[in-house]
Amino acid sequence: MANPLYGRNVVSIKDFKKSELEYLFEQVDANFDASNRNDLHHNILGLLFFEPSTRTRLSFESAITSLGGNSISLAETNLSSIEKGENLTDTIKTLEQYVNAIVIRHSMEGSAKFAAEISNVPIINAGSGTEEHPTQAMLDLYTIKKEKDTLDNLEIGILGDLKYSRTVYSLIYALSHYSSKIHLISPPSLSIRNDLLVELKDKISIHEYDNVEEVIDELDILYVTRIQKERFPDMQEYQNVQGSYKVDSKLLEQSKDNLILMHPFPRTGEIASELDSTDKAKYFNQIKYGKLLRAELLRLVLTE
Ligand code: CP
Repeated sequence: MANPLYGRNVVSIKDFKKSELEYLFEQVDANFDASNRNDLHHNILGLLFFEPSTRTRLSFESAITSLGGNSISLAETNLSSIEKGENLTDTIKTLEQYVNAIVIRHSMEGSAKFAAEISNVPIINAGSGTEEHPTQAMLDLYTIKKEKDTLDNLEIGILGDLKYSRTVYSLIYALSHYSSKIHLISPPSLSIRNDLLVELKDKISIHEYDNVEEVIDELDILYVTRIQKERFPDMQEYQNVQGSYKVDSKLLEQSKDNLILMHPFPRTGEIASELDSTDKAKYFNQIKYGKLLRAELLRLVLTE
């Protein structure tokens, strides 16, 4: 199969067919243990982060380095000419002169799409407001496939702040290519946005709950997200839901033996650290797969 990702922007998970995602996962598997690679020698990745990040930024840096390339970073935008009033268009048009692709994280919905429309080099969305985080969804699917050997016929619980979480939004769209059932669990004020339910109602089975205890015994996977405090327009609304759910060993007494726990991180108390050393905890594997997947994604976007 010819590489279907060459030269592509990665703005929305909705832009990727199931066959393209599976091609990417096959490439990650094929190169899982590869070392001393030089596929992206002389390539430079531009990192443009207007919001904080640990995993996404560092995994992209680590990924390009592992393929023999380099990165330059505008992660501290207060030290750049953005602080002097330079706009996003001029920032992108400047960065594209120096790099082969740009990874952008921004607080505004539509920011990555806007960047892709004006950039001459591929744009990779590393998170656009509450809207999307497509490479997180790709690595989440890869993690499920790696840990469960399939993406079909699973009972997948997604617990947390479903209203403001961009990772959840991209993940559910990605899962809609498969036959697994989705169980959405959140405080009522943080339930999933209606546009997703309307768009996917004929594509995937989705059930909603207020409490994880109602469904924990049915699940093969429990994907947990933090409450996205920084997205709340009203701190009173945040305080009403703060600490309203927690996954700990007592809750998991009711779960299947082979349940796996995932989390995009950062976590802020919603998964007890007592679970980190159990076989159920797969979130550190998820972080490791993220770097491997992003390396393959970069290679496929940048080489034919
Ligand atoms: N999962 C994720 O996007 O983590 P960071 O915010 O640390 O990049």
